[in-house]
Amino acid sequence: MKRILFVDDESRILDGLRRMLYAERKRWDMQFALGGEAALEACEAGAFDVVVSDMRMPGMDGATLLGHIRDRYPSTARVILCGYAEPTLSTRAVSVAHRYLAKPCNAADLLSIIERLSALQDLLCAPELRKIVGTIGQLPSLSITYTSLTQAVRDPDASVEKVAEIIEQDVAMAAKVLQLVNSAFFGLARRVTTLQTAVGYLGVETIKNLALASEAFRVFMPHPRVPVSECEAIQWHAHRAAAIAAMLPLDPANRESTVVAALLHDVGSLVIGSAMPDVYCSARAIAAERGCKVFEAEEELLGTSHAEIGAYLLGLWGLPNIAVEAIAHHHRPDRIPHSAFDCTVAVYVADLLDEQLEAHPQDATGLEIEEPARKCLEDIGILPRFAEFRELALEARD
Ligand SMILES: [Fe+2]
Ligand SMILES: [Fe+2]
Repeated sequence: MKRILFVDDESRILDGLRRMLYAERKRWDMQFALGGEAALEACEAGAFDVVVSDMRMPGMDGATLLGHIRDRYPSTARVILCGYAEPTLSTRAVSVAHRYLAKPCNAADLLSIIERLSALQDLLCAPELRKIVGTIGQLPSLSITYTSLTQAVRDPDASVEKVAEIIEQDVAMAAKVLQLVNSAFFGLARRVTTLQTAVGYLGVETIKNLALASEAFRVFMPHPRVPVSECEAIQWHAHRAAAIAAMLPLDPANRESTVVAALLHDVGSLVIGSAMPDVYCSARAIAAERGCKVFEAEEELLGTSHAEIGAYLLGLWGLPNIAVEAIAHHHRPDRIPHSAFDCTVAVYVADLLDEQLEAHPQDATGLEIEEPARKCLEDIGILPRFAEFRELALEARD
């Protein structure tokens, strides 16, 4: 049974939540804490799977509470409820919460967020995945540049200059980040030549994620048994998928995270290619022989696939939770509930479109969508829009 803690300074709101979620009491162990202190006390009796906290509370506010929970119970998923008129509070909340919901929230949205976070937790805690990541041994650690960048992002007083200065110390990273900023993904009207301007345009968080992307492509060098050209192909595919994702009708609030997720969605393949060359080669041989997908062959060999391996690693490296979720489910988006065209669906569609257009570059119209992708798109309710998305993808490839 999942353990979920709800925190608010008003008992009236907690009663409302209790009533709203009454139907879930058989599958969730739900507890309600009046304020931050009471919440931390409740955690001491046993860590929760998910904590949902109000932002504005007297004494310890939601961001401070979730900061403590992050430090003491890192595997607890953290959701914050914010009022609309709290921009500065929201900035603080973003750095500690996995998801945030605007108040007042409805039962469906809250349920969907808790369900999705729980699904991701289960996936990333699965024994098969833990075993595989354990056998990879020492995962490449991130450079000092990325680490200091992460610290700077956590500091609410970090200036644009400071962030730009950190990246500039690493010439290769600085060049790569500028290249990504100027790629078609972000649709900037003019060419950005300094990191300071780049941070000003796209924000510290996005620049940090682009630094992460450049880092991920740098640290996973293919094993000598894996053809270098294949790893390059994975990177090209990643760039095209990001360009396609950028053209999809994304929620503006998640736009940057979605593009970064599309850019990094197959990082797990690079991890397998560098740390498990036998699996890398066998999975491709099985896929070619049977005509199945590489991720299906990986699931057969490992009990998990590059999607979950990449998501796990990028989660450890601090990629935003919605991007980690999108990467984890990019071959199986039907594993979680969707109410709209979200980050996970966008990455799935971008990946599928690039694969289709690569396989049939000459055939721009009337491409068949194979099963199970067709059923998936139908369930999500976007099958009728697929032709429109394919037009956009063709434009992105030009
Ligand atoms: Fe993939
Ligand atoms: Fe892919």
